Amino acid sequence: MDITVARGIRTIRTPGLNTWQRGIPVAGGASRETAPQPTFPKLPKAPGDTDPYRAHATGTTYHRVMSFVWSGSAAKTRIVRSVLATAAAVPERTITVLDLGCGACRGWPAALAAAPNLRLIGYDPSPLAVSEARNNLGGYAADLVGMEVLQAVPLQSDVVISLSVLEHVFDRHSYLGLARKHITSNGIFHLSYDDGHFRRALSADRRSEAWSILKEWLINASAASAARLGSLNRYQSRVDRGWIDAAIARAGFDVVETRYENLSALKDLWKLVEPSAQTDFMNDWIAYEETLNLRYAASLPAPRAGDVVNLWQVMPTRSLVLRPAP
Ligand SMILES: C[S@@+](CC[C@H](N)C(=O)[O-])C[C@H]1O[C@@H](n2cnc3c(N)ncnc32)[C@H](O)[C@@H]1O
Repeated sequence: MDITVARGIRTIRTPGLNTWQRGIPVAGGASRETAPQPTFPKLPKAPGDTDPYRAHATGTTYHRVMSFVWSGSAAKTRIVRSVLATAAAVPERTITVLDLGCGACRGWPAALAAAPNLRLIGYDPSPLAVSEARNNLGGYAADLVGMEVLQAVPLQSDVVISLSVLEHVFDRHSYLGLARKHITSNGIFHLSYDDGHFRRALSADRRSEAWSILKEWLINASAASAARLGSLNRYQSRVDRGWIDAAIARAGFDVVETRYENLSALKDLWKLVEPSAQTDFMNDWIAYEETLNLRYAASLPAPRAGDVVNLWQVMPTRSLVLRPAP
């Protein structure tokens, strides 16, 4: 990322960001270091500047953005915070976000409450998830749409987001094609996928989870045959990095950023942290993972669990920022 200071106004330039995300002044012409700092929550301590939200959002906006937490996931928290900061940077505009595979939309009410100019469009093929999402989103600027809407005209979304969905998608080319169809030419696609379903292991200290682990093994083992017989609702299969990177290019996207997230030990520890300390814990978690990505990512001699990067062995979420290829 290239950060420049022009006439007392700090601007941020990121090759993959929309024009309305470039050159956004930090409040009062102050540099980020001298801008008023919130007393709560704690500032991330990472050395890099790779997250736009930290440079864009200041004062109360900064506080609002940094207070957002998606329970139990550093990846989802970081990604939605960056969408919130994007919206905060252009308060005069409505920012449309299409969530492909929105599930029950559990994180969105808090996000929509924090960004009045955000409009969510959610799609999910599961009727159960859609009915839960409808309950969760009551009163917020959000619409739930069916496939018939996605098959019609392009929705021109500023942001497309898809979190923990790709590994459940059977026809991955069509799914990427939908994202490409509904994004504006200078929009951003946050694509984040997980490998956790494919690495759960039985252990003596987790006997209470034995049945759910066995069930997941059976689902994984039968997913492909069930899909061939037309049953897709429990489909899941590991995402191979080489395959998906080629499919992303084929769908017409450029990769602007890629990172590994949700360190397994910290995800486990999250559940044991006092609720009053969870926002601070989340900020430290995100900051630590940023350091790991910046300093310690390295390639292994051969892929393991579908990816060649060392961090993937303990950080089973890979998050990409994509933009439509010119
Ligand atoms: C693990 S849930 C994630 C839900 C939500 N994104 C979240 O993070 O809470 C995976 C979701 O992907 C949805 N899904 C499966 N196949 C899909 C497809 N082809 N397109 C969009 N969503 C799909 C499922 O119905 C399910 O709700």
